[in-house]
Amino acid sequence: MAGRVWQSIVLLAALAPAAFAATTCGDGSQCPESTPCCSQYGECGVGAYCLGGCDPVNSFSLDACVPAPVCESKSFTFDNLDGMVSNTKYLGDASTADWVYSGTPLSHNGSVLLTMAEGTVGTLLASTHYIWYGKVTGKFSTSAGAGVVTAFILLGDSKDEIDFEFVGVELSIAQTNFYSQGVTDYNNGENATGLSDVHANMHTYELDWTYDNITWSIDGNVVRTLNREDTWNATANRYSYPQTPSRLQLSLWPGGLSTNGQGTIDWAGGLVTWDSPYMTNGYYYAMFDEVDIQCYDPPSGTQENGTKSYIYTDKAMTNNTVEITNDNTVLKSFLGSGLNMSAGSASASASGSAATSDAPTVPGLTGSGSGADGQRGSGDSSSSSADSSSTATATGSASTGFVQGDGGSKSGADQFGGNSESLLRGSLFAVVVAMVGLCVL
Ligand SMILES: *[C@@H]1O[C@H](CO)[C@@H](O)[C@H](O)[C@H]1NC(C)=O
Ligand SMILES: *[C@@H]1O[C@H](CO)[C@@H](O)[C@H](O)[C@H]1NC(C)=O
Ligand SMILES: *[C@@H]1O[C@H](CO)[C@@H](O)[C@H](O)[C@H]1NC(C)=O
Ligand SMILES: *[C@@H]1O[C@H](CO)[C@@H](O)[C@H](O)[C@H]1NC(C)=O
Ligand SMILES: *[C@@H]1O[C@H](CO)[C@@H](O)[C@H](O)[C@H]1NC(C)=O
Ligand SMILES: *[C@@H]1O[C@H](CO)[C@@H](O)[C@H](O)[C@H]1NC(C)=O
Ligand SMILES: *[C@@H]1O[C@H](CO)[C@@H](O)[C@H](O)[C@H]1NC(C)=O
Repeated sequence: MAGRVWQSIVLLAALAPAAFAATTCGDGSQCPESTPCCSQYGECGVGAYCLGGCDPVNSFSLDACVPAPVCESKSFTFDNLDGMVSNTKYLGDASTADWVYSGTPLSHNGSVLLTMAEGTVGTLLASTHYIWYGKVTGKFSTSAGAGVVTAFILLGDSKDEIDFEFVGVELSIAQTNFYSQGVTDYNNGENATGLSDVHANMHTYELDWTYDNITWSIDGNVVRTLNREDTWNATANRYSYPQTPSRLQLSLWPGGLSTNGQGTIDWAGGLVTWDSPYMTNGYYYAMFDEVDIQCYDPPSGTQENGTKSYIYTDKAMTNNTVEITNDNTVLKSFLGSGLNMSAGSASASASGSAATSDAPTVPGLTGSGSGADGQRGSGDSSSSSADSSSTATATGSASTGFVQGDGGSKSGADQFGGNSESLLRGSLFAVVVAMVGLCVL
């Protein structure tokens, strides 16, 4: 499956606009110094490429990726989208935002909707703070329909991963899974079955992740336990157990797109249709009511030389290669990287044209057009989606739970400013998310 994933990513890159000329990275092929950061999706760039998801092993050097903000215990409700910032705006200051998004989150009656309209690849929210052991809880209802996948996962820059995933044709099943450093293992998945309709009902899903074990719980009942001791891998000489700082990611994405591999389409329950009764106002949605993050202590023996950020000290990407530091996590502009956090800053740009670059700055977007202070000519419209959406009003509907604004005449894209082209491009990101999601199979 992983092979198909990466083939699809290459295909995607080929389909993307010409300006999208990112160098690929991965499997030991490292990024060049000029675009030093290997994104989660295997392409080299600067700016957001160096933030969440930046893969230290395949980047130019371990310190090309920007240090990751340490865990912060916090409960989230979603009366508005104030804590969310677009990935075209976020520069790494986790004190100013709780979540980074791509796609279109909408506020509705105290919940956040992750939406997926036709021509888009859904919505992803990632926590700005990393979690290095902790308990994460989400109260949500999933989307539904063939090809539609809802996910609640912990994902490390190492590609350590702990999952709850929901395929829209199996509304009584929560799929659980885990990965160590992205290594595909077909035996790790297990299903929690017999749930009351996960689309029609809110359930509470919890991942409790300690150094010794992981439990997956639903509505307070443990549905699965994984013990670290049972994951020893003699070949790799380490535990195949998630053990590195990870972000909490909530997402809705189309597994059933014809551009995806057949295995994914089959897993997702077939191709997505864009006239489904599960759509409202032109989009599919998953609805999150509450999220809670409780941090646990780092493993005993951890190198602590500060309290602010996690860095890796070795490519092994095991728990003992993580250090806690006071290193800065904030780029001055989208032209920066861990190698030079202040590159492209306003003061520097005043002196000349050096502040613009053709280097890709936001994974999944076309690479050109970035300028001083991280302003992107093309990124502005998508960044306004959170603001405009919060003005939508709810009037209620028995069958779908809600009707928004003035009803179904507008597509999701129209509702947040009509710039579906930028939506589409922003969404390439999520397609690749979807395909990385595949590694999950
Ligand atoms: C989980 O359920 C899905 C959907 O029915 C199925 O395709 C998959 O094979 C199941 N996985 C396991 C490990 O039983
Ligand atoms: C998991 O590990 C913790 C210690 O980290 C222990 O207290 C707990 O009993 C374990 N839980 C299970 C289900 O094994
Ligand atoms: C053990 O590690 C090796 C090397 O990374 C990997 O190829 C193999 O799939 C792993 N086995 C399991 C069961 O995870
Ligand atoms: C601890 O951090 C300081 C400055 O942040 C640095 O000078 C020092 O080398 C670090 N020590 C270790 C052991 O990493
Ligand atoms: C964490 O690192 C220590 C020190 O190398 C190692 O003994 C231990 O097995 C690692 N823990 C996990 C979960 O792999
Ligand atoms: C980092 O970028 C700034 C602003 O562009 C520049 O002035 C400085 O020389 C760079 N530092 C290094 C070490 O390249
Ligand atoms: C809004 O949320 C409240 C509490 O969760 C619920 O009782 C009410 O039915 C919801 N209203 C609409 C219009 O969805």
